[in-house]
Amino acid sequence: MFKKRNVELNIPKHVAIILDGNGRWAKKRGMPRTYGHQRGVENIRKIAIAASDFGIKALSVYAFSTENWKRPKDEVDFLMKLPGEFEKKFKDDFKKYDIKVMFSGRKTHLSQENLEILERITKNTKDRKGLILNICFDYGSKTEIVEACKAIASDVNSGKIKIEDITSKDIDKHLYTKDLPDLDLLIRPSGEVRLSNFLLWQVAYAELYFCKTYWPAFSKKSLEKALIEYTKRNRRFGGLKS
Ligand code: IPE
Ligand code: IPE
Ligand code: MG
Repeated sequence: MFKKRNVELNIPKHVAIILDGNGRWAKKRGMPRTYGHQRGVENIRKIAIAASDFGIKALSVYAFSTENWKRPKDEVDFLMKLPGEFEKKFKDDFKKYDIKVMFSGRKTHLSQENLEILERITKNTKDRKGLILNICFDYGSKTEIVEACKAIASDVNSGKIKIEDITSKDIDKHLYTKDLPDLDLLIRPSGEVRLSNFLLWQVAYAELYFCKTYWPAFSKKSLEKALIEYTKRNRRFGGLKS
């Protein structure tokens, strides 16, 4: 338990954040949207370290969606440079905090260069025992679920599993998040109140928290506020816990 101002926080094992509001944050400052993305990516490091300080086990961050390819080419090109930036700038801090990095998302649309970067980061951090930072990059929940269904259908075809034996656990174990604890808390900054194709299956019994702060301005204090709110929630999972 993490104690702050005499509030004993109930620390969720797995927190997810939709990194939204970079463009609006930059616009408010008269800067191009890409400046917001730059600051947004830097904020991942700050909040990953904060999450690790709070004792959170896994942090999933939504950094690029399967729908974000629809944006202007310049913006997409800029966003595609971020994994390289990430590798260069976060290496030392993540080592210091023993942070393990994994990536969730399609591996079919990214450049060879980016795929190599993602693979290298994953490999270099795989034995770390601290916070698991799950970066969702070219991630879409519907694609993730469709891929899980295809894998299960293929297991049915090959006789590995019978249709009548399929349970929700079979879906769980085909998702990118299969090795992570159940999702406890989902945070969306920036004032939007929607999920935008993020963790639709995993969110089943997660607590949802929305705040107005744009992602580049989301601080350790903002995270703490979300944790205080989470601590007040009464999770019943369909039962009758008081
Ligand atoms: C989130 O910020 C980053 C990505 C989606 C890549 P946005 O770029 O969506 O910023 P807003 O929502 O337009 O302010
Ligand atoms: C969701 O934000 C995706 C990421 C933050 C990576 P968007 O800005 O793309 O979502 P919408 O379009 O407002 O729903
Ligand atoms: Mg947005």
